[in-house]
Amino acid sequence: MNQTLEWDEDSRAERAADTFRRLFGGPPDGMWAAPGRVNLIGEHTDYNDGFALPMALPHTTLLAARARTDGRLRLHSAQGDGRITDLAVAALDPDAVTGWAAYPAGVVWALAEAGHPVGGADLHFDSTVPTGAGLSSSAALECAVAVAYDDLYGLRLPGPELARIAQRAENAFAGVPCGIMDQMASVCCTAGAALHLDARSPQDHRQVPFDLQGQGLRLLVIDTRVSHDLGDGAYAALRAGCERAAALLGLPALRDLPPGELARALRILPAELAPLVRHVVTENARVAEAVSRLREGDVAALGPILTAGHASLRDDYRVSCPETDLAVTAALGAGALGARMTGGGFGGSVIALVEAGQEDAVGVSVTTAFGAAGHRPPRILCVTPAAGAHRLAPPLGTR
Ligand code: GLA
Repeated sequence: MNQTLEWDEDSRAERAADTFRRLFGGPPDGMWAAPGRVNLIGEHTDYNDGFALPMALPHTTLLAARARTDGRLRLHSAQGDGRITDLAVAALDPDAVTGWAAYPAGVVWALAEAGHPVGGADLHFDSTVPTGAGLSSSAALECAVAVAYDDLYGLRLPGPELARIAQRAENAFAGVPCGIMDQMASVCCTAGAALHLDARSPQDHRQVPFDLQGQGLRLLVIDTRVSHDLGDGAYAALRAGCERAAALLGLPALRDLPPGELARALRILPAELAPLVRHVVTENARVAEAVSRLREGDVAALGPILTAGHASLRDDYRVSCPETDLAVTAALGAGALGARMTGGGFGGSVIALVEAGQEDAVGVSVTTAFGAAGHRPPRILCVTPAAGAHRLAPPLGTR
């Protein structure tokens, strides 16, 4: 199993600074890191103005950056094809940049669009956030740029505003109609806690202690290593369905439907929209329940809430798939306290809450079930709630 300490941030930073010097000549002005995330509960609620409870992963995108005075934006990724993408900030345009570079370039574009006085930079990225696993590698990329630019250009924007800029980049520049959860998690999470997010007022987020170790528990992330292509279009269609349902109910957003009025709403909504509404309303209630249990210090009580959340995503929202369903069933069968798919769905990752010492048994059981079903072996990580985006101390040798 892939333990988290394998990536010591200081040695990664040394390596990234060396690569930066080689690529761009001279040291970076600084180094920043932004994490990926898993969402504990509260899925497909953010774009309904609802609630979510993500935590940051120890897996981060590291960014070595230096401001430039000539308006050029030069981008390089250790995970890319070795080439440097060279762009003019003044000419950034949503249709002009494709591939991974659209995420960082989009953030610079969104900062400029919002009227912030930003110029060029040399940026070198090195990420340990698994890509295509539903763990928000793109939000990590965006948020690393947002915090670096905030420092390099002295913007001093609050975290939720940086998250909003990063979301704007993803929506308008990269063309993905996501909500704000991933970017809020990447910027605003703190170590040892989950983030209680109210997507209607992200500035009012709260840290909720999430003490896995102290309660003898572990959290596994099971990357199914499948990503079904229908993802993007299906996400937009679900979002549109929720907005239509809210309009039919005369509400600003589905978040405004109280649980006590759900039964009546289900009777009057078209058959294809009713299950979406049921998921959103019950999922918001599950977030509230999870936050209460965590505040009481009862982390194990999260288990049944996770499993109920998965059933709702599978049966009502219909964003699970055979691989995520199998990972959940196999983890529960091997004794996990609870399990659910996390993120947008159609593949990606499953989280499983397990007793300490059960990690390997659950991992083996899921891997065996995948083999028997003819799926590729999943990748299994054991994670702890980590810090949100931050600046690193200068690497040794440049202090
Ligand atoms: C993706 C989006 C988020 C959120 C989740 C589902 O991760 O980027 O904004 O909508 O799906 O909860």
